[in-house]
Amino acid sequence: MKLDPKKILIKGPQLEKKVKFLADRISNDYKTKNPVLVGILKGSFIFLSDLVRYLKIPHEVDFIAVASYGASTYGSGVVRWLKDLSINIESRNVIIVEDIVDTGLTLKYIIENLWTRNPRSVSVVTLLDKKENRRVRIPIKYVGFTIPSYFVVGYGLDYNEQFRNLPYVIRIDNLVTL
Ligand code: IMP
Ligand code: MG
Repeated sequence: MKLDPKKILIKGPQLEKKVKFLADRISNDYKTKNPVLVGILKGSFIFLSDLVRYLKIPHEVDFIAVASYGASTYGSGVVRWLKDLSINIESRNVIIVEDIVDTGLTLKYIIENLWTRNPRSVSVVTLLDKKENRRVRIPIKYVGFTIPSYFVVGYGLDYNEQFRNLPYVIRIDNLVTL
């Protein structure tokens, strides 16, 4: 598949500026809190790695990986847990790091699961927010960019595992996002 450069939504320098801005806000808000940043694999891996390089505070990094069940359960919000945390988050300040929030169902499931482990706090930073597709209310403390309901790839986001390496966010057309 060939991508059309005219469909670039967010260019590299804009991404860099925004990620630095988000890191500054987190550095202010979590100065003495030694937060655990929890990246949701795989999509968040590039965002997370850029974000932490701009953080000016002590912090720890961990990952979880989840997969949505097949189309038959689309919308149920039930996800398959593929990889769990290695850090014990009891009494810790957790910041979930997401690439993109769409319906919000995945994130809701993850937030509820993490709360059962008695963390002190759980907040969310997402690079992209497709707000108009939201089906459940979830609190998102830090949002990079709110975007229309396009399917996008690049900067960690994939289509069939391709395009994660692109240094920009670009729209793919003629796709159903389910
Ligand atoms: P949600 O449960 O509908 O919010 O789905 C969120 C997940 O779907 C994200 O973490 C992404 O992995 C994936 N996703 C949603 N929209 C896009 C997109 O436009 N491009 C690539 N992945 C997407
Ligand atoms: Mg994701």
